[in-house]
Amino acid sequence: MGNITEKSFKGKDLVSIRDLSKEEILFILNYAKKFENYRGNLLSGKILATIFYEPSTRTRLSFESSMLSLGGKVLGFSSSSSSSVSKGESLWDTVKTVEGYADIIVIRHPLEGAARLASEASSIPVINGGDGANQHPTQTLLDLYTISKVREGLDNFKIGFLGDLKYGRTVHSLVQALLNFDCDFYFISPEVLSLPLGFKEEIRAEGKSFVETENLLDVLSQLDILYVTRIQRERFPDPMEYEKVKNVYIITPDILKDVKKDLKILHPMPRVNEILKEVDKLPYAEYFNQSKNGVTIRKALISLLLGVTL
Ligand code: CP
Repeated sequence: MGNITEKSFKGKDLVSIRDLSKEEILFILNYAKKFENYRGNLLSGKILATIFYEPSTRTRLSFESSMLSLGGKVLGFSSSSSSSVSKGESLWDTVKTVEGYADIIVIRHPLEGAARLASEASSIPVINGGDGANQHPTQTLLDLYTISKVREGLDNFKIGFLGDLKYGRTVHSLVQALLNFDCDFYFISPEVLSLPLGFKEEIRAEGKSFVETENLLDVLSQLDILYVTRIQRERFPDPMEYEKVKNVYIITPDILKDVKKDLKILHPMPRVNEILKEVDKLPYAEYFNQSKNGVTIRKALISLLLGVTL
């Protein structure tokens, strides 16, 4: 893409972080700064639909908060049981219906590829709020925004991904996005939850290497960012397999004794017990600021895709 302007995004979908070039990502992160403290009537008369087939707190509510802060309105459903999906309506028909009620749609769905299908059905912009273990591109934008704030840029840092790297869609999107930048990857997980081969091949194809280990203490002292994830119980085909790994990593104040003083811990949330509450008061804890940055990023994104800009 040549010269990127606000107009470049009007009417587009955001289904995968791969839909965005490095320049487009940087444009969105920079444009989002205008929305840090903005509340007003920029999107007065516009309607956001959230169609969520899976539970969510942060993604759905921060999209709704964003739209309301910009003077727009919201509608939607937060589970398939409260919509006509429970009567057997297809995703395609649902989207074709909702596009008549709104100006932009955010979808979350348990099936990989559902957001892409929705974008094909829809004549209005569709944003992927998470599809199965595949992608969560707006989480990635807010993760990048958070990293760029705490590190004053997106280059020259070491990032460790901890926990469920197999099913964690936020990990998958963020790894792909970070291939645009100069950082070192450390993947820390039990073997059964390691990063899928395809992502490792993408890293190698970019001429980059990575460290893989099951032992957090092997690498913790080297990290600038520790990206902790929840073990995703709902995606395990066998509940017994979940039981074997559910408490495999728990971040405590004690294990943070020898970390870099400016280490920041991120977590897309929700957490179960992989970070103890006692860690929240330490200077390393960045995860609640990270969640809050979701509103800033999503305000910017809705504005750009609707083509009504500050
Ligand atoms: N990070 C995230 O997607 O959180 P929710 O599942 O609460 O939306």
